[in-house]
Amino acid sequence: MEQGFQCGGFVANMKGASIVSLCVLYLSALVRCYGGQEQDVLEAFINSRRARVSESHDVEDFSTEYSPMYVAPQEGLKDADRILALPGQPAVNFSQYSGYVTIDPAAGRALFYWLTESEDSATKPLVLWLNGGPGCSSIGAGALTELGPFRVNPDGKTLWYNNNAWNNLANIIFLESPAGVGFSYSNTSSDYITGDKKTAADSYIFLVNWLERFPEYKIRDFYITGESYAGHYVPQLADLILKNNKITNQTVINLKGIAIGNAYIDDEDQPKGSFDYLWTHALISDEIHQGIVENCNMSYDANVTQVCGDYLNQAYTARGHIYPYDIYAPWCTSSSNSSSVPRFDPCSSQYVSVYLNTPEVQKALHANVTGILGPWSNCNGYVGNHWQDIPVTVLPVIKELMASGIRVWIYSGDTDRAVTVTTTRYSLSKLGSLVKTPWYPWYSLGEVGGYVVEYQNITFVTVRGSGHFVPSYQPERALAMFSSFLEGKLPPGSK
Ligand SMILES: *[C@@H]1O[C@H](CO)[C@@H](O)[C@H](O)[C@H]1NC(C)=O
Ligand SMILES: *[C@@H]1O[C@H](CO)[C@@H](O)[C@H](O)[C@H]1NC(C)=O
Ligand SMILES: *[C@@H]1O[C@H](CO)[C@@H](O)[C@H](O)[C@H]1NC(C)=O
Ligand SMILES: *[C@@H]1O[C@H](CO)[C@@H](O)[C@H](O)[C@H]1NC(C)=O
Ligand SMILES: *[C@@H]1O[C@H](CO)[C@@H](O)[C@H](O)[C@H]1NC(C)=O
Ligand SMILES: *[C@@H]1O[C@H](CO)[C@@H](O)[C@H](O)[C@H]1NC(C)=O
Ligand SMILES: *[C@@H]1O[C@H](CO)[C@@H](O)[C@H](O)[C@H]1NC(C)=O
Repeated sequence: MEQGFQCGGFVANMKGASIVSLCVLYLSALVRCYGGQEQDVLEAFINSRRARVSESHDVEDFSTEYSPMYVAPQEGLKDADRILALPGQPAVNFSQYSGYVTIDPAAGRALFYWLTESEDSATKPLVLWLNGGPGCSSIGAGALTELGPFRVNPDGKTLWYNNNAWNNLANIIFLESPAGVGFSYSNTSSDYITGDKKTAADSYIFLVNWLERFPEYKIRDFYITGESYAGHYVPQLADLILKNNKITNQTVINLKGIAIGNAYIDDEDQPKGSFDYLWTHALISDEIHQGIVENCNMSYDANVTQVCGDYLNQAYTARGHIYPYDIYAPWCTSSSNSSSVPRFDPCSSQYVSVYLNTPEVQKALHANVTGILGPWSNCNGYVGNHWQDIPVTVLPVIKELMASGIRVWIYSGDTDRAVTVTTTRYSLSKLGSLVKTPWYPWYSLGEVGGYVVEYQNITFVTVRGSGHFVPSYQPERALAMFSSFLEGKLPPGSK
């Protein structure tokens, strides 16, 4: 178990690095050693990132990325995408579709999606789910370990039904984005050097073409949800949709709201919130916390000094070998599977990898039809490590969305230390929106599910006892929160 520290042995060469880059690099080193999930890549961040980051904190204009927009006829493609049954799947009464949507035929770029409909799909809204990274798969994480209808058994061959799947309430599209992630690909290798802007632009083209393939969804209420680095993807895509809705000759996308969980939003709040969280959750000493507060400059472009770096090193040692995505959860080891741990199986993503790399599974999913480089993996480190544009904060984008009239929710599993609830609270405080409904406990199944504060145009909901992957760790509470979000009501304040 101690190898985690060897592979993270670190802060050695910190000259010229910002504090956020160091935190994230350390995190990713640990995750890589343990084959962890999603955030391998909250990593990519940075290293080379600072030099390229746009200094502007303004809202980026994504609307001119591609002109004219690529829209292709989609007749017949929906039927071809229908999933009859996945290998090892239990019987269900909802429909599923999956396949590729071409984004750029000249480059040979296509994005892979999986739609899990509701049983009564015609009466339910459409929701897009995005995992983060950057470079991580919404199918490997979101669909198969979090909110999707199926989870993979330890045999890597059979699936079990998730009672708390979000497709109980909505038709959910899981999108592997950008190209290079999961089964999404490009025949032009330079496409794998990408960033926030291109990811938003491609996701938009995906949506417009997908709605041609599934025209029954064109006027349906539409929401975008996601977690972690999707704290960038989701607001940016929503912003692009609202802008393009005003100018486009294509489908106007009926965007009603967004919800982002344990969301990476702001480069200052990330380290500041993390270290305050470690201290308030009794994971580092008073002295180390004090040392960090007094010696580390957390502002966007400040560098780490020697004395700050020493305290950071002490913090990493002091907190011990703790699983980054849930401070109270076990690591995946040979004895920590579902038969020994009562709730979320920490080895789930390993079962998913085995399942998705099975040729019959890929065939049933209409995935990898062109023979793309394998194996399928949860995160693409190359894409993450070559990430280009990444604004230091998306708070200005969130502000625009708040003023646009769409529903904006930020939720947070409160035992995550990757993107902590403290971090999110600092960002909400920066937004400076007035409180409409003060803090209260909300309930699910007779227990406190978490806490809520409704601000003007933005709602903050915590999910109690949940790590980074909220629907994995607290499936009932996550579904209750999602239900309130879709209804546009605050979560229930009594049992
Ligand atoms: C941080 O370090 C980089 C690289 O050494 C340097 O270019 C930059 O000026 C430094 N920033 C500050 C605020 O000192
Ligand atoms: C599917 O619907 C049928 C008919 O309503 C019902 O008998 C069956 O139990 C349902 N199956 C599942 C898995 O929900
Ligand atoms: C929209 O269509 C009109 C009329 O066909 C055309 O003049 C205009 O350039 C188009 N705008 C865009 C953004 O494609
Ligand atoms: C932190 O760094 C920023 C950017 O380099 C600088 O403007 C600011 O004065 C520094 N703050 C302190 C307290 O040193
Ligand atoms: C799960 O853990 C139990 C108890 O330690 C062990 O006997 C079993 O082999 C493990 N199963 C898998 C699939 O790793
Ligand atoms: C795609 O299929 C080929 C075999 O045709 C396989 O070698 C490759 O690993 C697969 N790619 C992925 C991403 O699974
Ligand atoms: C909330 O939205 C309204 C209009 O939609 C806008 O006038 C107001 O400035 C917004 N307030 C905040 C804090 O976003």
